Amino acid sequence: MGKIIAISNQKGGVGKTTTSVNLASSLSYLGKRVLLVDVDHQANATTYMGINRANLKQTVANLFLDDTPPQSLIQKAESVDVDVLPARFELAHVESTLINKDNKDFILSNALETIREQYDYILIDCPPSLGIITINALVAADSVIIPVQCEFLAMDGLTQLLNTIRIIQNKQKYNNKTLKIEGVLLTMLDTRSNIGYEVIDEVKTYFKEKVFKTVIPRNVKCAVAPSFGLPVTEYSPRSKGSLSYQRLAKEMVSAIE
Ligand SMILES: Nc1ncnc2c1ncn2[C@@H]1O[C@H](COP(=O)(O)OP(=O)(O)O)[C@@H](O)[C@H]1O
Ligand SMILES: [Mg+2]
Repeated sequence: MGKIIAISNQKGGVGKTTTSVNLASSLSYLGKRVLLVDVDHQANATTYMGINRANLKQTVANLFLDDTPPQSLIQKAESVDVDVLPARFELAHVESTLINKDNKDFILSNALETIREQYDYILIDCPPSLGIITINALVAADSVIIPVQCEFLAMDGLTQLLNTIRIIQNKQKYNNKTLKIEGVLLTMLDTRSNIGYEVIDEVKTYFKEKVFKTVIPRNVKCAVAPSFGLPVTEYSPRSKGSLSYQRLAKEMVSAIE
């Protein structure tokens, strides 16, 4: 049965989407059946996977708004063997409509349980907030990957995320889950400056063995690949960015399986 992993940090621009997309493609190269769920209304993961948002009749917003079965929303990524539950801008309006809905924190969880058996890994790319959509993602998840950018103020806001994780663990008692930290992922390391290495030390002191050994370097190919609608693992397979995400997938799988 598929493991559900949320990629979350309420800070924007830390590498959540880049990690979701490239971990998804890297897991597929290892022969894993992967679903990538985009729950950010900016829909970057959907675009990074080469899916044309304009052509979509329905998106993940329909799952929240009218209980559309997830199966009917799934698209194929353009270049890799990854299924995608796509998002679009209309997801931005979902939060306000959910406020008074019963069981509002469990919508995504209930939906993903119905398709969980079809996958080895279900990755959820979270928005940069701790609103209802992120709560849904975390409640649905077995574990969370927290990307942390190797920059000044990297740890800022993480206490809030950890508090949220504790609140989620309480909610999950209703569906027999306990959200774990899969790992803290250090991203966008600039190997030419000291600050990145200082952040690594700081994060490792705090999170200890929870930090992935694989560190993602800053690599221009990672930033360019999305404009071609490709994971960097397809756009530039031998680049440092690509190789580091493939290493991350192996590290994660060998820890889990
Ligand atoms: N390892 C990397 N090297 C260079 N640029 C990166 C790397 N990872 C992400 N980026 C770029 O940084 C920006 C933010 O990354 P993104 O994954 O969208 O973050 P988030 O989803 O947390 O907002 C994007 O423009 C992305 O292309
Ligand atoms: Mg993002």
